[in-house]
Amino acid sequence: MADIDAVKETPKKHYYENIPMTSPGFSLRGAGSLDWGMKNRLAHIFSPETSRTVMLAIDHGYFQGPTTGLERIDLQIVPLMPLADAIMLTRGILRTTIPPALTKPVVLRCSGGPSILKELSDEELAVDIEDAVRLNVCAVTLQVFIGGEYETRSVHNMTRLVDLGLRYGIPTMAVTAVGKIMTRDAQYLRLACRICAELGAHVVKTYYCPEGFETVTASCPVPIVMAGGKKLPEKEALTMAYNAIQQGAAGVDMGRNIFQSEAPKAMMEAIRQVVHKNLKPAEAYDLFLTLKQKAAK
Ligand code: R5P
Repeated sequence: MADIDAVKETPKKHYYENIPMTSPGFSLRGAGSLDWGMKNRLAHIFSPETSRTVMLAIDHGYFQGPTTGLERIDLQIVPLMPLADAIMLTRGILRTTIPPALTKPVVLRCSGGPSILKELSDEELAVDIEDAVRLNVCAVTLQVFIGGEYETRSVHNMTRLVDLGLRYGIPTMAVTAVGKIMTRDAQYLRLACRICAELGAHVVKTYYCPEGFETVTASCPVPIVMAGGKKLPEKEALTMAYNAIQQGAAGVDMGRNIFQSEAPKAMMEAIRQVVHKNLKPAEAYDLFLTLKQKAAK
């Protein structure tokens, strides 16, 4: 016989009739109307405390092969992963090299096609959304080449990926790829980021520009994360990250400026402090030097 004691009316039950039920809010930019699964995945990527993220980008091999610093991801990168809020990579590296026990959210590279030997904007979608579900990813991502030779196709790749992701509650991060003839100025970046957001991207990754970056973040209705770009001296990279955050970026998605650093772990930790604690560039650089020295002992 079923135990019905638990459903019997007793004076001990509490319904708190006088306390109105609150609806949990979600403060990430542009995400208020998304479904629970989308919000939950975004909350794994963007710290609920700061609404910011430190994403580690190691997907470079999808078009340029074994990039400097990524020759042996098992040895060079896996030890860095505990310091990242999220990792951006391909399914090939995920399945072959990343321990499944890693609980960091995965942002899965889903476009591909041309190598560095060909026209880079000639990309197609290169992952089935069901595989992204199988891999338990928190977001899918691809390049969008505004102004590029295959601009329209890359935009349609993005809108298809957004639609596929929406079926399963997986957000899409669009990466604004800047072609060889495009200038990385605020006017171009505003155009590219806004197009991605208007057409459904939930997060946009773009480059920093020294003049007017705050207008790029202000005019984009979803979070912007800053791509690192080519390797800079550590102090410059920390300054760039600081400026991007202070000018409205919701985090960074950096690759070469971390894994090509003389001390990648120290750089990750310094970047974390810049992103989540607003640490100023000079102090962040001191922290980097201190941690680098400690690691050398
Ligand atoms: C490049 O196309 C990839 O999406 C990289 O993830 C991106 O460029 C970020 O890496 P990095 O900081 O090295 O520019």
